[in-house]
Amino acid sequence: MQTVTLIPGDGIGPEITESVTRILKEAGAQIDWDIQNAGADVIEKEGTPLPDRVIDSIKKNKVALKAPVTTPIGKGFRSVNVQLRKALDLYANLRPCKNIDGIKTRFNNVDLVIVRENTEDLYAGIERQVDEDTAESIKIITRKASLRIAEFAFEYAVKNNRKLVTAVSKANICKLSDGLFLNCVREISQKYPQIEYKEILVDNLCMQLVQNPEKFDVLVLPNLYGDIVSDLCAGLIGGLGIAQGANIGLNAAVFEPVHGSAPDIKGQNKANPTALLLSAIEMLRYINQNTIAEKIEKSLLKTIKEGIYLTPDLGGTSTTVEYTTAIINNL
Ligand code: NAI
Repeated sequence: MQTVTLIPGDGIGPEITESVTRILKEAGAQIDWDIQNAGADVIEKEGTPLPDRVIDSIKKNKVALKAPVTTPIGKGFRSVNVQLRKALDLYANLRPCKNIDGIKTRFNNVDLVIVRENTEDLYAGIERQVDEDTAESIKIITRKASLRIAEFAFEYAVKNNRKLVTAVSKANICKLSDGLFLNCVREISQKYPQIEYKEILVDNLCMQLVQNPEKFDVLVLPNLYGDIVSDLCAGLIGGLGIAQGANIGLNAAVFEPVHGSAPDIKGQNKANPTALLLSAIEMLRYINQNTIAEKIEKSLLKTIKEGIYLTPDLGGTSTTVEYTTAIINNL
């Protein structure tokens, strides 16, 4: 038995968490969940959306599965996600993006991995109101963070038999900050002659991704471009409902989908749990429960390929619960 921190989140979080924990249980995963609520729902009781107990639990267990948590726009608390990534130094955000058989999209040859720097850039949260009509936000890029995310990307490429790493920036405009990022990736690329290395500006990347996504393999990006490009790539393979992710640091890893708490469909039993399930499958591999991971993955892919039970975001009419039951029946 392995103890894993479970953050059910808010919005559609609890619904998809229920689905995923049901599937893992039925598949025989050897997991003891340490349930830690966070987000809007705990603010009233505990005065913060991210109580210390959540961070302590992940520090102790070293691995967590996390459903999305709402960040109110404008004033209020800082994003739970950003705080969590900072507190645990989860510096690498890994988002594999691959077509799934049975989900119709414009492309059938997408197989890329986004490696997003997770701790700095505009997410450093250094903002000020200069005067009533002017606000300023500071973008931080450091050599240390850029080198280690570059190293992570190349190591990932080597271990996963990937051939090409592309560094993404806007170094023509942000000459110092993105320039530093790019120089660091370039420096690390020298240590990996077996991996092809390319550079691209983020605007050009967006255009090329929607024309020829097969040209890309591993993408390494600063935080904000990584965030935006992740959603774009999710769109290439069928939407946010199937886009998985992981935040990885030296001492802990938090597995979570790319999507947010989807307040527009909260409580309607129509959220797609696939992104959280795929994240959970990677988590199972991370804790060496590979056989269970494979069993669930096979059943998930079979269910999608059959196309009988699909949630509305994938063009189906099934509820979250019906889709979940179909996956369990296919185990
Ligand atoms: P969102 O990802 O929650 O939703 C965007 C669109 O995709 C919506 O139409 C939604 O219904 C749909 N969608 C997302 N996930 C889906 C799923 N599993 N099944 C079916 N449809 C799905 O993005 P939005 O609306 O910008 O953000 C909502 C809240 O989530 C915000 O407070 C944001 O800060 C937070 N958020 C949290 C994240 C996290 O906890 N890691 C990541 C991204 C956003």
